[in-house]
Amino acid sequence: MDDDFWDIYWESHLQTMENLGKQVAIQAASRLIRHLSKEVNHPLRLLELGSGEGQVIGTLLDSHKQLCDRNNSFGVDYNAQSVTRCRKDYPGLRVDQADFTDPVILGNLGKFDILLLVNALHEVFSNTFDAELGEVDIPAAKNNVLSALRGAVNCLEPSGWLVLFDGLEQTGNPSETIELHFLDPQARADFETFAKQYHPFNIQFTQLNNPMNVQLSRHSFTRYITKSIFLGKRLWQTEQLESYQYFTEQEFRSAIDQEGLLIKDLQTLTMNDEKWRSRVEIITPGIEFPDEHILILAKLSPGRSQKSII
Ligand SMILES: C[S@@+](CC[C@H](N)C(=O)[O-])C[C@H]1O[C@@H](n2cnc3c(N)ncnc32)[C@H](O)[C@@H]1O
Repeated sequence: MDDDFWDIYWESHLQTMENLGKQVAIQAASRLIRHLSKEVNHPLRLLELGSGEGQVIGTLLDSHKQLCDRNNSFGVDYNAQSVTRCRKDYPGLRVDQADFTDPVILGNLGKFDILLLVNALHEVFSNTFDAELGEVDIPAAKNNVLSALRGAVNCLEPSGWLVLFDGLEQTGNPSETIELHFLDPQARADFETFAKQYHPFNIQFTQLNNPMNVQLSRHSFTRYITKSIFLGKRLWQTEQLESYQYFTEQEFRSAIDQEGLLIKDLQTLTMNDEKWRSRVEIITPGIEFPDEHILILAKLSPGRSQKSII
């Protein structure tokens, strides 16, 4: 079956999936499964760390039954509710309720052809919250992400691939300020909720003369705008706890290189800018809406030796 078939297949099968980022990750992993299965002569074993309700790994296994080894593929997630839902929605999918940052857990899983990390590592970053600081301890959090990535990559077969999809930190001066104009009172009120309730970082802003205009750092702006679609929705309860942003593109490149992987494809994407533009206008000249996500496909380089997690 050719790429045109799969484009049409995914267009209809992913229609009900609200999260556009997840759709992009699934389609990229599907292309990789089709490509890799021509190179290796066994059904592919998939591992998803932070598999949640299983939509990514479950959909991929269901759609590529002939090419994947469902019985030896795994999802890992520490959230009991998500694991229960995953087992219900994808019967037969093997999913462990466990912490994927625990080297013992990963050491017992075996080796896999494709490792999926979809919107998972930003949670490892966000969980490194320092109560005294009142914010995420950035250097410690980045180290935790690097160790988690190392442990995960150690689960790959020598011919294995990584599919990583996550939020993206902006380059440039993070404290550079930017002026925003909210397009309606609800958007202004939602911003107030964001500034009060966003947990990973303190959000400071200056109210300007126009009640609909504020000034804040680009750092805070990126955090606000990428969460703005959840404000006023039930999902805000969990979304308020997590920072999507942790690594810049350069930091992703160097983390992946350090783990002995070769990047074969890297894309930065923005999925929700139409929704953003309906809420706010950037007044400061020369500043654009940020790139929201990064998608990386990387392959283990031939001479990579097993690295220690510790
Ligand atoms: C945003 S969800 C993404 C779920 C799934 N990858 C998807 O795209 O549908 C992130 C998931 O990672 C899980 N998670 C985060 N840190 C984890 C850890 N250290 N161990 C196991 N699961 C973790 C959370 O429980 C959550 O279900």
